[in-house]
Amino acid sequence: MELLQSFRQKAKEVNKTIVLPEGEEERTIRAAEIIAKEGLAKVILIGNEEKIKSVVPGACLEGVKIFDPNKEDLTKYATALYEARKNKGMTMEAAAEQAKDCLYLGVLMVKCHDADGMVSGAIHSTGDVLRPALQIIKTAPGINTVSSCFVMVMPEGCKYGDNGILVFGDCAVNPCPTAEQLADIAISSAQTAKSVTGINPRVAMLSFSTKGSAKHELVDKVVAATALVKKNAPELDVDGELQLDAALVEKVATLKAPGSAVAGKANVLIFPDLQAGNIGYKLVQRLAGAEAVGPICQGFNMPVNDLSRGCSVEDIVNVVAITALQGA
Ligand code: ACO
Repeated sequence: MELLQSFRQKAKEVNKTIVLPEGEEERTIRAAEIIAKEGLAKVILIGNEEKIKSVVPGACLEGVKIFDPNKEDLTKYATALYEARKNKGMTMEAAAEQAKDCLYLGVLMVKCHDADGMVSGAIHSTGDVLRPALQIIKTAPGINTVSSCFVMVMPEGCKYGDNGILVFGDCAVNPCPTAEQLADIAISSAQTAKSVTGINPRVAMLSFSTKGSAKHELVDKVVAATALVKKNAPELDVDGELQLDAALVEKVATLKAPGSAVAGKANVLIFPDLQAGNIGYKLVQRLAGAEAVGPICQGFNMPVNDLSRGCSVEDIVNVVAITALQGA
């Protein structure tokens, strides 16, 4: 796919260091080989060298740094963990133990600037991948909510989005966002849209109502979130509450939301909760045949991304490229 090729090309140019904590896992090792061979990023694999070589015999890992937590000195990372969590009751002894956990170690490498980003989740759940990052890396200035989005690449000839590219958020992290969280999701999704795809974001805050056509507390939440986005990111083109057709279709927008700078031409769609977002992206993926690139995590102070456990080697390579771009 052209867009993914462009991610890879841009990743080469920014030349970031990405840590892969699941370094003894086969797809991760094969992805590290490709990333190193293509020069997409500098890779750190966490794991034992002999184990890695036995999992993929003959793997060419020239240029890949292998970091074995059982052989290296982890004092720096344990101290960083202790500092980040001491107000939550973490002791230095507990930090020294937890720093050996590959998922914590990967995040600590990012926190200590030994890596620019982390990609994990081929063999761990979303919660296990995100929790250490939520605890240690925390959120970017001005954002209180970590969330996610998908870049949806529509089949050839699609008239919606920018050349068929749309960004959907949040589809993977926050089950029941408040108005404040929804506003953060919108601002972060717009930033991701810009930094990763290069599109100029036009953000639609989705609902089952357009501009007061229905009255309900769920609609009120989207209206409140829209007002917060306008206040916190006044430079952003955002409008809401909008139904999906008013957000995407010019003719419907003219009728339901006349004069809107976003309605009829939205390219970033913000779903009111995780049920809508998760179902929405899968509908477009399965019924319309769109490519769903993600979930891309956003709102962290430094880039961390979660993989699906069903991911392929190519998926890992692509997420590493996206992570590098987020850190650029
Ligand atoms: N943004 C910022 N901080 C957060 C967030 C968030 N979204 N969520 C939790 N935190 C913070 C908490 O405040 C807490 O901070 P503290 O320890 O410093 O006080 C810390 O992170 C840990 O919080 P917990 O509540 O212990 O974390 P939890 O176990 O709830 O995990 C998670 C958070 C993983 C994001 C959870 O909300 C979750 O599981 N979400 C749904 C994921 C999912 O199943 N997605 C669908 C599948 S993905 C797909 O289909 C593509």
